[in-house]
Amino acid sequence: MSNAALRAPGGAAQAPGRFDDSPFVRACRGQSVSRVPVWFMRQAGRSLPEYRAARGPGSILDAIAQPDLVAELTSQPVDRYGTDAAIFFSDIVVPAAAVGFGVDVAPGTGPVVSEPFRSAADLARLRPLEPETDTPYVIEAVQLLSRSLSVPLIGFAGGPFTVASYLVEGGPSKNFTKVKALMHADPALWHDLVERLTDMALASLRSQLDAGASAIQVFDSWAGILTPTHYAELVLPATRRLFADLESSHPGTPTILFGVGTGELLGLMATAGTSAVGVDWRVPLDEARLRVGPTKAVQGNLDPALCLGSWEVAAAETREILVRAGTAPGHIFNLGHGVLPETDPGILEQVVELVHREGHAGLDVNVGLGVDVDVEVDVDVGATRIDVDDGAGGME
Ligand code: CP3
Repeated sequence: MSNAALRAPGGAAQAPGRFDDSPFVRACRGQSVSRVPVWFMRQAGRSLPEYRAARGPGSILDAIAQPDLVAELTSQPVDRYGTDAAIFFSDIVVPAAAVGFGVDVAPGTGPVVSEPFRSAADLARLRPLEPETDTPYVIEAVQLLSRSLSVPLIGFAGGPFTVASYLVEGGPSKNFTKVKALMHADPALWHDLVERLTDMALASLRSQLDAGASAIQVFDSWAGILTPTHYAELVLPATRRLFADLESSHPGTPTILFGVGTGELLGLMATAGTSAVGVDWRVPLDEARLRVGPTKAVQGNLDPALCLGSWEVAAAETREILVRAGTAPGHIFNLGHGVLPETDPGILEQVVELVHREGHAGLDVNVGLGVDVDVEVDVDVGATRIDVDDGAGGME
């Protein structure tokens, strides 16, 4: 598929980027690749001994405000695993914390809010983010990284539902009752809250792109708790606006929208205006491709828990995903959610090698001449036998 087909109708031409030829950027755009790209959500973090050594004690928000440390922590997994992209070391609550909403990140728990969002009066506590003055350390760290990294840097922000959920619930939640109550009891207030959070995410993402990030992922991690109807009515409009505004200021930027448990939302998420949709492990990747449709790349979707045991188990699952990805372009290999802290880094290292060695989605050799190939993949994955005939599907 051509590049133009992945762009919004009438979208401006994209500025050439330093990593336009990288497997990660090319796969996001549905172009052929020299190898299937792979990176891991939460690849920088507690599963790496070098992370624990460099990070030191204290809140992660303090670590995030030190550009040299951020550059080191962002680069560590790229150096160790040989991933095809780096994810910027930061957190989804940084913009809200930076405007003084009163958010911290408790080790082992996640974001905690001292005075949760309750009423219209709390909107005043969410003034617009001014990245140059509120988060200069983000800009500085991205600038450092865009000079030093040999792979694209993925900037990110939290999606509107997920950030709102922390602010309204006051911390991590299982059932999201308070945020759901607010959405339905006061849709006008919900709308104002989500629009403000979207403006903050947009300002942050633009500052990361201006500083040299090559791509963007929006983590709407907990949106899968919503019904498709409520997602479509109460979250998708702001999400679409976010990506449309990004496309007008930074045309052609590869963008990914991800959430956990979003099997029933994938078709809707695919209309948000991104290049790719992230998929968790619950939906087989070939089924996810059908739900997302032929014009989007898909990212995923190895169950992170399957990296906790033997290499044989992780290898079999990785191979199954590579088979389900088919041969058409537009697959970025990843986990279905973040790396678990107890993961042996050696397993992830081997996953990267295996994806690079055996991944075949969009390989130049398959699609180099734009010729439609009809490759029959017939792989024996342990006990499961999968036959995939993938000449026609995918992004061609
Ligand atoms: O490699 C990377 O992905 C690092 C960058 C990163 C962090 N948080 C660093 C971090 C990214 C992309 C995030 C995003 C993030 N933060 C999300 C979306 C991704 C997802 O997992 O769904 C969410 C929901 C948050 C909020 C948050 N921050 C949680 C739930 C936690 C975990 C709490 C814990 O300690 O287990 C955090 C803390 C956090 N953010 C850590 C890291 C490395 C671990 C704590 C630390 O090292 O101090």
